[in-house]
Amino acid sequence: MKALVVGASGMLGQDLCPVLEDFGYETIETGSKILDITKKDDVFDFVENKNPDIIFHLAAYTNVDKAEIEKEKAKLINKEGTKNLALISKKLDIPIVYISTDYVFDGEKNSPYLPNDKTNPVNVYGKTKLMGEIEIQKHCEKFYIARTSWLYGIHGKNFVDTMLNLKDKPLKVVNDQWGTPTWCADLSYALVEILNKPYGIYHLSGGGKPTTWYNFAETIFEYANINANLSPCTTDEYPRPAKRPKYSVMDNNKLLRNWKTALREYLKLIEIE
Ligand SMILES: NC(=O)c1ccc[n+]([C@@H]2O[C@H](COP(=O)([O-])OP(=O)(O)OC[C@H]3O[C@@H](n4cnc5c(N)ncnc54)[C@H](OP(=O)(O)O)[C@@H]3O)[C@@H](O)[C@H]2O)c1
Repeated sequence: MKALVVGASGMLGQDLCPVLEDFGYETIETGSKILDITKKDDVFDFVENKNPDIIFHLAAYTNVDKAEIEKEKAKLINKEGTKNLALISKKLDIPIVYISTDYVFDGEKNSPYLPNDKTNPVNVYGKTKLMGEIEIQKHCEKFYIARTSWLYGIHGKNFVDTMLNLKDKPLKVVNDQWGTPTWCADLSYALVEILNKPYGIYHLSGGGKPTTWYNFAETIFEYANINANLSPCTTDEYPRPAKRPKYSVMDNNKLLRNWKTALREYLKLIEIE
């Protein structure tokens, strides 16, 4: 089986590709320099030439705050780029796996979001990722939409590493946004697992009790045996250009383990614990 991994150079892509290889896939790996997904003709030529059996579409404009200013660029990549990949997977009649986000929800619910719950994104990034979901559903029958949240992994800039890098400084962290962190390695295995399930929308975020960014930071320092100078703050005290949903917990239907267990393993891997 040949898997085209679009966005393979990103944080998730670099964890997913070796996992796919372990499962016997031959991977074709692209970043924006190899294949710009916003260029329809290039997408069609490249994908037809490589002739994959499945597409994993991880590529995105991912800067949540900057997207508020670069609206058109975010839309071009997340909507139009996704449409191009949806159209070619339809033409070749192959499945496409599209990675989406908890930010398609407005955060007004107070129990975990289910895959068919109403979407209502509150920022540009979430809106453009939802446009991508709609393109996938409009053009493809063989699709998996995998929504995830609060990603961290060894190959990218992420919250865990930021906290560890700032461990000697006084830190204020938001304590009124709820979600669950997701380790890219766990997500990678779950992405392979859902291929045995019916096409549709899946929530692939870390399991266990929901947390806030503050509690996530506290847990990182606790497991890393670091006595950090950490205090909670509210979203209002720490304004950002993009609004965040206050509760973006998703019901993952037990597809991923407890986020705390995953975090311990991640910290061991990076030799912190
Ligand atoms: N990070 C999170 O917390 C989070 C949470 C929920 C969902 N997600 C979703 O998970 C997926 C993976 O996220 P990530 O954190 O691994 O992202 P990332 O590290 O920012 O990587 C983004 C990838 O997209 C590629 N890309 C960007 N523009 C492109 C274009 N025009 N054409 C082709 N490729 C392009 C990049 O290629 P180059 O590097 O070569 O430019 C890179 O490989 C994304 O779909 C994201 O929306 C992420």
